[in-house]
Amino acid sequence: MKKRLLIIDDDTDSSSALLGQLAESKSLEVCGVATGVDEAWRMLQATGPDMMMLGTIKGAERGILCQQFRLAYPQLSFIAACSPQELMWEPFFRNLGLWVVVKPVQPGQLEALAMVPQTMITGNVPLHQPNHHAAAVPLHQAEAQIQQPESENNHQSSYTTSSGPKHLLTVYGPKGGVGKTFLSRELAVFFTMQKREGRPLRVLAVDFNLDLGTFATTLNLPRTPNLFTWVQDIDAQLQSYVQQQGRDPFTLRNEEWQEYASALTLSPQDIQKYIVTHTETGLHVLTSPRDIRHSFEIRDYHLYLILETLKRSMYDVILIDTAPDTTDATIQALFFAEQVVMVGNPVVDSIENIQRLLKLLREAEYPEERIQVCMNRLQRREMFTLDEIRAYFQLHPTRKIYSVPDDAEVKKSINTGVPVMLHPGRIAAKDAIEALGKSLLPTDSEIEGPGPKSKTKERPSLFRWLWG
Ligand SMILES: Nc1ncnc2c1ncn2[C@@H]1O[C@H](COP(=O)(O)OP(=O)(O)OP(=O)(O)O)[C@@H](O)[C@H]1O
Ligand SMILES: [Mg+2]
Repeated sequence: MKKRLLIIDDDTDSSSALLGQLAESKSLEVCGVATGVDEAWRMLQATGPDMMMLGTIKGAERGILCQQFRLAYPQLSFIAACSPQELMWEPFFRNLGLWVVVKPVQPGQLEALAMVPQTMITGNVPLHQPNHHAAAVPLHQAEAQIQQPESENNHQSSYTTSSGPKHLLTVYGPKGGVGKTFLSRELAVFFTMQKREGRPLRVLAVDFNLDLGTFATTLNLPRTPNLFTWVQDIDAQLQSYVQQQGRDPFTLRNEEWQEYASALTLSPQDIQKYIVTHTETGLHVLTSPRDIRHSFEIRDYHLYLILETLKRSMYDVILIDTAPDTTDATIQALFFAEQVVMVGNPVVDSIENIQRLLKLLREAEYPEERIQVCMNRLQRREMFTLDEIRAYFQLHPTRKIYSVPDDAEVKKSINTGVPVMLHPGRIAAKDAIEALGKSLLPTDSEIEGPGPKSKTKERPSLFRWLWG
């Protein structure tokens, strides 16, 4: 059976040439040619094509358009027909699941694509569409570990110090230097200034950048005690437990330690022994080790025990700053979190890595609604608009991308150790972080009335400029 192709292109010469060339095709028939978006929607409904080729379309961006069409017609496959000058966007289109062909389009290319099975054409998984591909190996491990907190809530603890719902937030970004630590610090400070039922929130910030963490430095805090102090105590407890079981700690393998650790329940009250306090805000901080070598001694099961204990603690908000990697510490912090702030910069390498990470998380069926994307260091004129970035990430059009402006005050505030949130004046970055904080966790002030708005103006678009 022939595949049906709908062409959208305002370059009518190229469309009619293709129409003629495909007239005799055995595998493909052109079921319609549209020159504008409205016409394309009408034809889509009327003709029910299998494939859609997007050429130049006045006033529209192919990435976004493809995303909108795909939401309405998930089975449809897409081809972007680019001029040689537009080929720099090929990786973007490919990541959006569009095939890319160069104009003048050869009918043979389209016929070859018509032969490719549908599942291969729609290579990327659209949002909300269940993905049945096998998850990547590291995430298999992660899932195995992460299902435990849910299914093992039967870890009976006599320390029920918690009151009210707790919130674990992980700040992550798969590229270094994008502003994770800065945003973690500011969000943590923002939460200390919020109230729930008239009581200030109890907030703990945790530095999961185990080897090179700088969270303490950004608040002028000492590095002792720290996570490693806790890990040493866990090891001491584990050793005596193992000895009680009649085993020699020196002969145990890592898997055996892991098993013994899973039987251990730590006391959430003990957390107080390992934190340092930021006196100006009352923020508690569990800092990363002082010595890099100490971080080498922290194992997956230590982190699991720590995260599980934090979840049972008295804190209302636990905010985890992470490293730009995919180590077990980071993956566990992602899977333990109720919400993740995915931080990037509006630069192609950072955007690409977020897309790769989102793809991985989708394949692991990670609940995408937990992820809030935040573009940090936005300047007045950017090459990419937030809409384009959203389309590239294949986020639902209703999902907001948060943004924080590039602000000279930030560098100063990091060097002085004084958070932007404590700055008395109005700073653009401060307003933006407040808006992000409120969206992450509604608090009393949010319930009482809306805060200052930080609406992002529409930015000039390179896509629009290119394809006019
Ligand atoms: N909104 C901003 N405006 C101006 N400068 C910023 C902004 N956000 C971050 N920076 C600058 O970027 C630097 C790096 O930020 P930060 O340390 O938070 O990144 P990171 O993602 O945590 O890095 P790493 O991956 O190494 O942990 C900061 O020292 C600061 O100077
Ligand atoms: Mg950092």
